[in-house]
Amino acid sequence: MDIKQIFKNNQKWVQDKLNLDSNYFKNLSEGQSPDILYIGCSDSRVTAEELMGVSPGEAFVHRNIANMVPNTDLSVMSVIDYAVLHLKVNHIVVCGHYYCGGVKAAMQSQDLGILNPWLRNIRDVYRTHRVELNAIEDEEQKYRRLVELNVQEQCINVIKTAEVQRVYRDRGITIHGWVFDIHSGELVDLKIDFNKILENVMEIYRLD
Ligand code: CO
Repeated sequence: MDIKQIFKNNQKWVQDKLNLDSNYFKNLSEGQSPDILYIGCSDSRVTAEELMGVSPGEAFVHRNIANMVPNTDLSVMSVIDYAVLHLKVNHIVVCGHYYCGGVKAAMQSQDLGILNPWLRNIRDVYRTHRVELNAIEDEEQKYRRLVELNVQEQCINVIKTAEVQRVYRDRGITIHGWVFDIHSGELVDLKIDFNKILENVMEIYRLD
């Protein structure tokens, strides 16, 4: 990639925006009030804003390998805290994607160094759902299902945080589990039944 081209692209983008609205960047600099927190994968093919069709200012975004929400990860925990308590988002989305390299790596018996502790969180998802996953004979289908179950478990991790439990009770907040299908470009809503999950989760994880 030609890095110089990026700056040319940027200049064109600035000009395009200003041509439509001469106050575009002035307005942007005045603050943000996004309604959505999007937690997705770092995969270069899975953009956040572009696939949702939203503009700068509309989504607060956190991306990491395999869209994980580990409770000891200061980065994702800070993002959730800030989004929920300060930006007061009404929606939290965990968006996984089929063909996820992180999920694929977690399905293999391989020492991946520093990635081991990160990917172990996905192996834990596999262990939690191993009866369902082991019953799937087709490897491709199993891989897809693990992507979906990982999204579900990361949504549960979001619900396990005290901040989210508090706003859920006090003003309401919606958690969404989605999967982006790179092969078709489509966004799939997993329609996770959080009311049912909440009953199970809150018995043990209630903090507030
Ligand atoms: Co991925």
